[in-house]
This record gives sequence, structure tokens and C-alpha cells, in this order.
Amino acid sequence: MKQIHIGVFLGSFRKESYSRKIANAISQFFPNDIYKITILPLDTLPLYNQDFEEFDQTPEAWISYREIVKELDAFLIVTPEYNRSVTPVLKNAIDIASRPPKNNLWSGMPGAIISISPGSLGGFGGHQQVLQALTCLDAYVMPTPETYFGGIAKKFTDDGVLKDDKTLRFLENVANSMRDWLERFLL
Ligand SMILES: Cc1cc2nc3c(=O)[nH]c(=O)nc-3n(C[C@H](O)[C@H](O)[C@H](O)COP(=O)(O)O)c2cc1C
Repeated sequence: MKQIHIGVFLGSFRKESYSRKIANAISQFFPNDIYKITILPLDTLPLYNQDFEEFDQTPEAWISYREIVKELDAFLIVTPEYNRSVTPVLKNAIDIASRPPKNNLWSGMPGAIISISPGSLGGFGGHQQVLQALTCLDAYVMPTPETYFGGIAKKFTDDGVLKDDKTLRFLENVANSMRDWLERFLL
């Protein structure tokens, strides 16, 4: 059977990003005989500008990124919020994969959103904005469990290992729900 390819879209490319650490931690709950998980390099994508396409100057990085997204079976977004809003690197990646409208690559793709924050609100504001964009793009976003991780900085050792058992168990629950969700569309 072909592996189910899940593309991970991070909202931050900071070296010590908690979003990346959570993405790595949840990966263990997707057995690799069934799932392939790839973190996409969104931080090298030039900022969206409609003129590039109108004047036939589509950047190579957009073309190869769109080719990768086109081949995905599913998405997993793991992101902080910036000023209660979606982070620029993630919004840029969402926009590039949504255009031109007849090639909206989000349409019909199932997936899930996880938000993180060192604060107590778990990135709720940014999470909702990502959900709003993906809903209008016809992506099939897993409705439950809604996943907002607050107090994220306290959950890892200095080596980046998830030390908080409650968070690990919750991540396992999210992964199980996501596997059920993906199966509705992909199997
Ligand atoms: C420009 C900027 C705005 C931020 N705004 C928020 C915010 O509104 N809410 C919040 O909880 N954290 C906010 N933060 C803190 C981030 O959540 C924190 O830096 C987080 O660790 C970034 O994600 P990462 O660990 O994956 O890099 C902001 C950080 C930056 C750089």
C-alpha cells in the first residue's frame, strides 16, 4: 500500500522552535509503514506577489513548493500566533498554494491544526485565523480535538525532549483522531 504523505507546515522556522519540536514529537504516533511525514521548507519561499504570475515571473521556489504540495495526501499545521494572528511565513505558504484559484491545492485536502504558545492562550487567535483561511480554501480541517498548547516552554528538556507526559498523551490522542480523520478521505 502507498504511504500516506503528510506535509507539515510550520508557522515558525526559529532554530529552537517549539512548533517544530511538537511536530517531531507527534510524528512518533504515525507509524512509518503507513505514513510519510515531511516538514516543508516554507522559510525560503519569496513573499507572494500577484505580479510574478501575471508577468510570467513565477519564482522557481514557488513552482517546486507547489509540486510538493500537489503530491501531499494531508497536512499538519503546527504554529505559534504572532500578535494574535497568523504568522507571515505560514500565511505566505497558504497563499502560494492557493493560487491560481483553479489550482487551489488546499481544496479537498484533509488535515489538522495545532497551535502553541509560551503563554496561557495556546495561540488561539492565530489558530482561528488559519482555520478561517483553510475553510474558505475548501480544506478539510479536523474539527476535534481542537489543539492549543499553552505553557509550551515548560514542556521540554534543554535537549528538546518532550518531558511532560500529559502533553505526550494528548498528542497521541490528537494523532489517533487525525488518523481516523484522514481515513475518512483517503482509504
Ligand atoms: C512578532 C511576534 C509576536 C508574537 N505574538 C504573540 C501572541 O500574540 N501570542 C502569543 O502567545 N505569543 C506571541 N509571540 C510569542 C511566540 O508565541 C513565541 O515566540 C513562540 O515560541 C514562537 O513559536 P516557535 O517556538 O515555534 O518559534 C510572539 C512572538 C513574536 C516574534
